[in-house]
Amino acid sequence: MIEYQSLIDAARHAREGAYAPYSRFAVGAALRTRSGRVFCGCNVENLSFGLTICAERAAVFAAVAAGEREFEALAVIADSKAPVTPCGACRQVLAEFAPTLPVCSANLEGAIFQSSIAELLPRAKEGILGT
Ligand code: THU
Repeated sequence: MIEYQSLIDAARHAREGAYAPYSRFAVGAALRTRSGRVFCGCNVENLSFGLTICAERAAVFAAVAAGEREFEALAVIADSKAPVTPCGACRQVLAEFAPTLPVCSANLEGAIFQSSIAELLPRAKEGILGT
């Protein structure tokens, strides 16, 4: 059983940095690596909407830039009715490094939904580039 509380707390804190003037939907993510470090991200929107980066990808890119590629667990949090799960693009980016990554989705009220990248994006890399 993965201990998610500290990861959820880190994601909640990261969410406070979100820049979301267009959607007004702030998201925070926290990614624990095998070495025990935690990398956080928040969504950063842009007037050219397609340039927006999600919290989850911000966290992955921060980890990879720090030399960490082995991921152990992800927590993501937003002020949503149902706990928020990563979008399709983020699922694919997470699958690049951790196709079976456990994911804990949370909302500000304390509801959680546990899943994994394997469940959220099955067969993510199958067949691509001859794999
Ligand atoms: N968003 C995330 O950062 N992560 C998610 O899991 C869902 C969506 C952001 C993108 C955009 O800034 C806003 O939430 C609304 O879609």
